[in-house]
Amino acid sequence: MALDNGLARTPPMGWNSWATYELKIDEGLIRATADAMVGSGMKDAGYEYIIVDAGWKAKNRDAEGRLSADPEKFPSGMKALADYVHSKGLKFGLYTDAGTEDCVSSAPGSKGFEDKDASSFAEWGVDYVKEDWCNTAGMSAQEAYTKMSRSILATGRPMVFSLCEWGDNKPWNWAAPVGNLWRTTGDSKDCWDCGRETMNKPGGYPRGWVLILDAQPPLAAFAGPGHWNDPDLLQVGQRGLTVGESRAQFSLWAILAAPLIATNDLRSLTPEIHEMLLNREVIAVDQDPAGIQGTRVRVEGDREVWMRPLSDGSRAVVLFNRGESSATIRVRWTDIGRKQSDGLEVRDLWKHQNQGSVKAGYSARVPSHGVVIIRVGVSAK
Ligand code: GLA
Repeated sequence: MALDNGLARTPPMGWNSWATYELKIDEGLIRATADAMVGSGMKDAGYEYIIVDAGWKAKNRDAEGRLSADPEKFPSGMKALADYVHSKGLKFGLYTDAGTEDCVSSAPGSKGFEDKDASSFAEWGVDYVKEDWCNTAGMSAQEAYTKMSRSILATGRPMVFSLCEWGDNKPWNWAAPVGNLWRTTGDSKDCWDCGRETMNKPGGYPRGWVLILDAQPPLAAFAGPGHWNDPDLLQVGQRGLTVGESRAQFSLWAILAAPLIATNDLRSLTPEIHEMLLNREVIAVDQDPAGIQGTRVRVEGDREVWMRPLSDGSRAVVLFNRGESSATIRVRWTDIGRKQSDGLEVRDLWKHQNQGSVKAGYSARVPSHGVVIIRVGVSAK
């Protein structure tokens, strides 16, 4: 049973301030990011939510126990900022924490104030609430998130609810009726596979996106319209990744039916990253209405094949090269549930080119730390 709020029927798309800006956020940055999301064409391509992560709250609740915005960084207040974001045709997201305090900003958490905070969010025009899991000693995640979920529903304002307890309490087993998405691991970082040593320590230590990818195959069956696994932000365009590594993450996140939430500086997109974030063919894979999460179907050393079934009967396939040199990778039609004798139309989604009708399987040369993503169609008559 999924949360009955009618939202996130496809994985949410947008931008979140955390991984790039951490606490260095203010209303000017958020407004400029909303402007850039429209001006870059990202809005037209489907990006919708501008999510302000930790760092927006004043240090204390007001006399009535309400949250308010940091008066220096957000002097106009959150309602004015939400109004601005809405005026651009976008939606507005805010961060809070389920415990006594936010993770790093010593600002008040929502524990015991769920109704009050949900009402403030609704009054301000929030469309998306992300709730973190710091300072929650002795609390039950299922109870705490259920409480906030009910408080949000009780406001009557539709708000996507995003759980962020890093997979510690296996939310895929219980969170579908509670939230629209749940983080599956600790935080991602802008690197390929750094952080292996610390990634299993409590508290969501950051790690490269490849390590997050590796945690996803067992979770695929738990995702669907309205309730998604969240493997954390797109590090696309960040300093620590090459263009090819960014392209690989973007393609694999589409296979995973993952939220496409960028965190890079949208005011200064390079042409390559702009083209990447706006690749409508890859976005269409991510946003496929059937909402079936894809998974890894073949591993041969560093060469992997990932596949996602799509609503029209076609398959999205990623040939993924984790190795240090380029390699030829082959998908066999039997890997993706078709017969070797089928003649299937193949389209390369980065080249935007049809490759014709192909029998038995498809091979491509794939760069180191890179991907080829294809859509494999229904049988050619
Ligand atoms: C935790 C979360 C992150 C981010 C930060 C903010 O680490 O997992 O996504 O919200 O807190 O402090």
